[in-house]
Amino acid sequence: MIQELSYVGIGSPRSEEWRTYGTKLLGAMLASDGPDGAVRLAVDDINFRIAIHPGEEDEFRYAGWGMANETDLHAFVEHLESHGVVVHAGDPELLAEREVAELAWFEDPWGIRHELTWGKAATPLSFSTGRTMRGGFVTGDQGLGHVVFQVPDIEKANRFYVDILGFRLSDRITTKYFSVRFYHINGRHHSLALSEFPGHVGFNHLMLEVEHMDDLGRLIDLLDTRDTDVMQSLGRHTNDLMTSVYIGSPSGLQIEYGYGGLTVDDLSWVARTYGRPSYWGHKLSDVAKSRLPGIVKPIAAGA
Ligand SMILES: [Fe+2]
Repeated sequence: MIQELSYVGIGSPRSEEWRTYGTKLLGAMLASDGPDGAVRLAVDDINFRIAIHPGEEDEFRYAGWGMANETDLHAFVEHLESHGVVVHAGDPELLAEREVAELAWFEDPWGIRHELTWGKAATPLSFSTGRTMRGGFVTGDQGLGHVVFQVPDIEKANRFYVDILGFRLSDRITTKYFSVRFYHINGRHHSLALSEFPGHVGFNHLMLEVEHMDDLGRLIDLLDTRDTDVMQSLGRHTNDLMTSVYIGSPSGLQIEYGYGGLTVDDLSWVARTYGRPSYWGHKLSDVAKSRLPGIVKPIAAGA
């Protein structure tokens, strides 16, 4: 089974801007550059978990998912292949770049690339925050955070991600305007969410959770001094109880910066349906209303 969201990678013409944005605003630590000049960020003692590759356009590149060990990875690849998923083995160059022991990758029905890995490199006591913070990020056995993708068909996506990949439904939020499903693979309420956007596929946001509310508050103060857009105001979600703000990034991707997310226990968890995403706040800004939500691309008709 997939155990954690391990890392993510995007491409962007403004990758260099993440050196400052990622450290001085988000509070991540600059890690060594990738072989292609990718800016890489650490949020804990894992050598890096976020990579921004130089590229012609803003694009989602890959999500990396951590398996417990090599036995689990091999068994899972066999399971995927038995369901008709085409799985590719990572070559030594790719393993070296991602700093993992082993890697296999595949795409979802709309070309969202997922990498299955084990043995990602870590350096104990290496992490320090990129700006002054009271604490660090909530990772550990909850992984990096969560990713939210837009998919054209939520039911078809649910079948792929649940029936084949084994993501477990935490709950749904269904309103007049959107339909989102939230999935867990560890204690974090969701490591993945899928949002229906007919005719489109996209990477809406990456959520990073801080250990102390003060570090969320300080980020909000820092926005006054930076050219970064607020996409959704401070608010608290109904389902994972996260208090968070959504901000823009140099690359179209949104970052949800949160505190106080719920953890789930599969022994007692029962999926609910909510009619609204937030108890309060999370108001869409004018900027958010004027552009596509995240790195979003139209797909070919009929896909
Ligand atoms: Fe989120």
